[in-house]
Amino acid sequence: MESAHRKPIVVVGSINMDLVTRAPQIPVPGQTILGIDFTTTPGGKGANQAVGVARLGYPVYMVGMVGEDVFGQALLDNLNAAGVITDAVSRTPGPSGVASIVVAPGGHNIIVVVSGANHKVTPEYVDRHESLIRSAGMVLCQLELPMVTLSHTFSICAKANVPVMLDPGPASPLSEKVWSQAAWFTPNEVETDFFLERKLEPEMAARELLDRGLKGVALKRGSEGVYVAVAGGKAAWVRPFPVEAIDTVGAGDCFNAAFAVALMEGHDRWTAAHFASAAASVSVTRRGAQASMPTRAEVDELLAQYR
Ligand code: RIB
Repeated sequence: MESAHRKPIVVVGSINMDLVTRAPQIPVPGQTILGIDFTTTPGGKGANQAVGVARLGYPVYMVGMVGEDVFGQALLDNLNAAGVITDAVSRTPGPSGVASIVVAPGGHNIIVVVSGANHKVTPEYVDRHESLIRSAGMVLCQLELPMVTLSHTFSICAKANVPVMLDPGPASPLSEKVWSQAAWFTPNEVETDFFLERKLEPEMAARELLDRGLKGVALKRGSEGVYVAVAGGKAAWVRPFPVEAIDTVGAGDCFNAAFAVALMEGHDRWTAAHFASAAASVSVTRRGAQASMPTRAEVDELLAQYR
């Protein structure tokens, strides 16, 4: 299908520079350890999802902000180079968002985000891009912008009947509006436990989350796969591909990007989740968040291997 005939995906979200230390283990409080190496590489859940969509060849706009620091230009350049349309990305005085990340063997990670410019993405800023948001086939959000901005984005989408896929990280309390309007809710295990205030098996967790008014959930469980369920419909596991993970930073973002693309292309949720699982499986075999997002040919190649 030609881009001109496809409704774009619009990401209203965060843009960070990731400060990544590779280490032999995740340190415990009070412990000092020696790391293996250090890199700065573009990240931010929103920007990662936008790059993930663009790499798959689907039209995507980013709504967000970067700082007027040295990272701001690099982040903007990287989005443009990936093919993300950045007309709605502004530069603002002060620092860009940054994320301090430690990646341990097996790809496990911990992340601390300092919002910087992301904090200045206000409801008024989103309003300046309302017609773009209204024109979207789907809007992708996360929780690294102010909560009031998320709520406002949901209101615009509700009025224009645009489905929203919400990646609820970093987990924080959500309003009734968000629970009742999200078309897809895609927490990882830590986030699921946060929202349910206890540990539940995915089957139970999905049921409880759907009872809150969500239309669909995709519970991301790393190497176990993704548990997909919709209100009043079938629920099932979509298993990942047997790859060797070296860095899982951005894998969840990759899943959301590919899931959204496949849904927008008219695939059913199982086919879409299988495609997204393949994309995320490719991404964990590479380092970096945006840097690890696969092209469509790379996803198709993995799918072909296991067909
Ligand atoms: O989901 C991974 C992302 O979380 C990182 O790129 C980091 O910037 C944080 O936003």
